[in-house]
Amino acid sequence: MKAPVVEAKGLKQVYKIKRGLFKEPGNLQAVGGISFAIEPGKTLAVVGESGCGKSTLARMVTLIEKPTEGQLTLDGIDAVNTPANYAKDLRRMVQFVFQNPYGSLNPRKKVGTILEEPLAINTKLSSAERTERARAMMAKVGLRPEHYGRYPHMFSGGQRQRIAIARALMLSPKLVVADEPVSALDVSIQAQVLNLLADLQEEMGLAYLFISHDLGVVRHIAHDVLVMYLGHAVEHGPKEKIYARPLHPYTQALLSSTPGITGVKRKRIILKGELPSPLNPPKGCVFSTRCPYVTERCKVERPALRELDGRQVACHYAENFLNEEAA
Ligand SMILES: Nc1ncnc2c1ncn2[C@@H]1O[C@H](COP(=O)(O)OP(=O)(O)O)[C@@H](O)[C@H]1O
Ligand code: SF4
Ligand SMILES: [Mg+2]
Repeated sequence: MKAPVVEAKGLKQVYKIKRGLFKEPGNLQAVGGISFAIEPGKTLAVVGESGCGKSTLARMVTLIEKPTEGQLTLDGIDAVNTPANYAKDLRRMVQFVFQNPYGSLNPRKKVGTILEEPLAINTKLSSAERTERARAMMAKVGLRPEHYGRYPHMFSGGQRQRIAIARALMLSPKLVVADEPVSALDVSIQAQVLNLLADLQEEMGLAYLFISHDLGVVRHIAHDVLVMYLGHAVEHGPKEKIYARPLHPYTQALLSSTPGITGVKRKRIILKGELPSPLNPPKGCVFSTRCPYVTERCKVERPALRELDGRQVACHYAENFLNEEAA
């Protein structure tokens, strides 16, 4: 096993929320203790509904926000209390690709300038060398280097996401955090961008933290999957295990609502109701207000994340699903 590029232990993010003039501020726990490790060349997919804390997790891993609690190391360096002389190395090591490439690309800057910027800020390369690298990166991500002088609006959505990926790679990061990178793209374009990410990963040995609300999207790109619900990991492990036999009712519900996923055929679980507010989370199991198998125990006792059948799962009754026959 290679040393992980990134290791997170018990990452938490709690926001203080104002609740009107005379009330105490509330504590909104957006991420409630997430742990994972990603090796070079591997992808961890983080999946869950909107509002479950995925982007908050991404902001912590990309050093945009400090966690309220927990540990984070990048290439073995402490990324929470970073020794000052490592801060610059750390920022180069991890890069972010956002959902909306247009919003994240400055419309007044030419593509070439956008790509050269990280080099201008972080390296001593000459202008000619920077241009050379920017053009080479354009070719690498499937853009035409002669479009170097064009502006972002002159490209299609898929091409703009290629520009955002190129920019993220200019400083040779070890980890790329991609937050819903294909969700804004047409389905026909999504596969092209996913293939590009997979090719770049193989070529450059990149580790990916890939965030999506859709288990269908991450099926091919993920090595490991972490399913999140209300800030907590409910199931986490190798992709093959999770798609073939999901042991958490929430994973089962997500999978049964994803078209085109085959594997163990199971009863269709329709997710009812809304995600509870993280300001007022359920006392026991976080999924208890929507789970079709809920018992009295679930409402008072929060299940721990525990090892079962080659993955981790947080459900009191996960064994029941292990032996369930294919329907
Ligand atoms: N800066 C913030 N201040 C207060 N609450 C926030 C902040 N960022 C996110 N939240 C809340 O944290 C929860 C998780 O949000 P987010 O991480 O954006 O989820 P996701 O990316 O999975 O949709 C939501 O309830 C959201 O409203
Ligand atoms: S612990 Fe209970 S409520 Fe939670 S997922 Fe398992 S069966 Fe459902
Ligand atoms: Mg988000």
